[in-house]
Amino acid sequence: MKLLITGAAGLVGTHLIKYLDKIKSIELILQISPRSIDKRPWIKNLTEGKQVYVGDIRDYSFIRQLIVSSKPDIIIHLVAIPMGKGKEILSINYGGTQNIVGALQEAKVHPHVFIYISAVLALGDGLKDGAEEYREAKPRTPYEKSKWLSEELVREYTSKQGIRHIILRPVWIYGEHSINPDIINLVKAIRWGVSPIPISKDLNTGLIYAGDLAKAIHIAIIKGLNGTYNIRDRAPPSFYELVTYLKSLLEKRSIDIVIPKRLIDIASRKIHLLRYLTLHPGLIPIDKWVADAGYIPHTNLYQGLSRTINWLHNNGLI
Ligand SMILES: NC(=O)c1ccc[n+]([C@@H]2O[C@H](COP(=O)([O-])OP(=O)(O)OC[C@H]3O[C@@H](n4cnc5c(N)ncnc54)[C@H](OP(=O)(O)O)[C@@H]3O)[C@@H](O)[C@H]2O)c1
Repeated sequence: MKLLITGAAGLVGTHLIKYLDKIKSIELILQISPRSIDKRPWIKNLTEGKQVYVGDIRDYSFIRQLIVSSKPDIIIHLVAIPMGKGKEILSINYGGTQNIVGALQEAKVHPHVFIYISAVLALGDGLKDGAEEYREAKPRTPYEKSKWLSEELVREYTSKQGIRHIILRPVWIYGEHSINPDIINLVKAIRWGVSPIPISKDLNTGLIYAGDLAKAIHIAIIKGLNGTYNIRDRAPPSFYELVTYLKSLLEKRSIDIVIPKRLIDIASRKIHLLRYLTLHPGLIPIDKWVADAGYIPHTNLYQGLSRTINWLHNNGLI
């Protein structure tokens, strides 16, 4: 079974490579960006001996070539940028999805399953009403629009072709191989002696360890799931608890600074987690996922964060 991963050099991609590489029936095909090799040197060892296609998702002829020569049975589409200029976010996140779907249709090469890793933020302002999968989406930022439009495109394409789709909506993914500035800056702030607490102590987060997400994706494939699902850890901490865990891991006594709502609103244009927190969606419901997949991600948060911090430290990122 040929399985294509786009954005394979990123956080989720590296955990997927490690997880799926152990499964003999799967042949991995990896798409990575031209910048990944310099930016993420650890990817060299992970991709050795595998079919790797290096190119930009915005380059339609590259994507078409990738689809025609690899003919994947399953596609896991991960490419996205979390921040940047609005136009760039839309052209990579949504334009990239359009290129993949366009190439599949033009080449008449259709996978059995199309997996898209979206985000809870695809619902945008709709999260103020709740985060259940059926809620109406009101995406506002370019990232939210790019995720929602991609979801819609994947649903439309797969239903037209009569193939399965699995759309997963995490909140915050953490783990080794993350170069996401959200976690790096938070760790750095705590090291400098400041624990930022946005607005109040009981705002919920929704975390998932990247290794658990990789396992969840595999379970979704083998259980024949078809649909859109929220996904998170069994017991996500409040943001305050998360900071407390980090303080303890870093053995730092830092001062809690409650950041006022106005400042959070401004910073949330750049930092996804803050945007999510300002929407106050409460604990993300995962009943649909649990009922269909029968698996609850459960990596112990303390251990997961400890691995993440050690990895960041060993790679000179904090
Ligand atoms: N991380 C989170 O907390 C989180 C939360 C919710 C949803 N998600 C979603 O989950 C998916 C995977 O996220 P992740 O954390 O693994 O992201 P990531 O670590 O940033 O990986 C994304 C990969 O996409 C590549 N890429 C970016 N622009 C590209 C382009 N123009 N052409 C080809 N490749 C390009 C990046 O290349 P470079 O190596 O050059 O950077 C990177 O390797 C994304 O769709 C994201 O929106 C993530």
